[in-house]
Amino acid sequence: MQGVKAIEWIDGRVRLLDQTRLPQEEVYLDLEDHQQMAAAIREMRVRGAPLIGIAAAYGMALGARHIDASNMQDFLARLRQVAEDLSATRPTAVNLPWALKRMTLAAEAAADPQAASEALVAEALRIHQENTDADRRLGQHGAQFIPAGSGVLTHCNTGSLATGGYGTALGVIRAAWEQGKLSRVYASETRPLLQGARLTAWELTRDGIPATLIVEGAVGLLMRRPQAIACVIVGADRIAANGDVANKIGTYNLAVLAKEHAIPFYVAAPTSTIDLGSASGDQIPIEERPPEEVTTFAGAAVAPAGIEALNPAFDVTPHRYVSAIITERGIAREPYAEALSQLFQQEGVRHA
Ligand code: MRU
Repeated sequence: MQGVKAIEWIDGRVRLLDQTRLPQEEVYLDLEDHQQMAAAIREMRVRGAPLIGIAAAYGMALGARHIDASNMQDFLARLRQVAEDLSATRPTAVNLPWALKRMTLAAEAAADPQAASEALVAEALRIHQENTDADRRLGQHGAQFIPAGSGVLTHCNTGSLATGGYGTALGVIRAAWEQGKLSRVYASETRPLLQGARLTAWELTRDGIPATLIVEGAVGLLMRRPQAIACVIVGADRIAANGDVANKIGTYNLAVLAKEHAIPFYVAAPTSTIDLGSASGDQIPIEERPPEEVTTFAGAAVAPAGIEALNPAFDVTPHRYVSAIITERGIAREPYAEALSQLFQQEGVRHA
């Protein structure tokens, strides 16, 4: 069970699966420069926090190929502009600036533009591979939280389409399924762009994992049903130093409902999603997307012309609602400030 190849570096180009076309069509895009990558991230053809980081890393490698500079000073100045273009695409997922910083450091360590260009490709491939390895470890750590025979609720898409690997929350679900523990996954559709309905349902169906799609409004009813939901497990776009979690809009609602029903609420994310530079969720920038994503559906209006619509893409769940944060380095629990900073004291963890 390896999931789909959401992104790939092939002979100096990036091939990515256009997620806006799923599940109707599997269309792959071949990108040749960083502007195309920036557009793909902004338009959410590629999405999900870890995959946005990987895409941005490949975007830097693409950008470098088009820089014609005879010395390192010029090369790095133009590379900075590439990084800024990519950085301006989506503000919430910290994996984006995390990856751009790693890429910049890799280029700065090179002796000349040619070597820097090669180092950027190597670093992007390394970031991709590290994420894939982290997913597997995270999945194994997380499966312990899934009781045998249980139903699990997840939100948005946190699978191969969001990480380029095995998935975070969906990686835990996959690991639990492989261990024979899981009986059913409930996937909330995730308004307004339906990542749950279009993408999570697609991945679960391909893997043959029993799955039921629900509208977000059905969550409370389901949680009241005895034994329907053993736990909620979601991903994250940015985790603050105190354990507050920014994730897809609607996550906070799920967490509050879960607490009311004494259902554990788990967050699964690689350490590259933890931002010790944000003291709490209040410092996390929340992306606002165009109102048309709410007022239209598949190009057709679903609301009267002239209505105002608010379209925040993420919300923040305060850490008091989070039962545990599952990472590739291990599990963090309250007090999160201490537990999260300890993850970074372990040898070999890089932190932007
Ligand atoms: O707007 P999206 O689709 O990029 O949002 C994705 C999410 O909120 C995911 O839950 C999060 O990035 C974790 S992905 C492993």
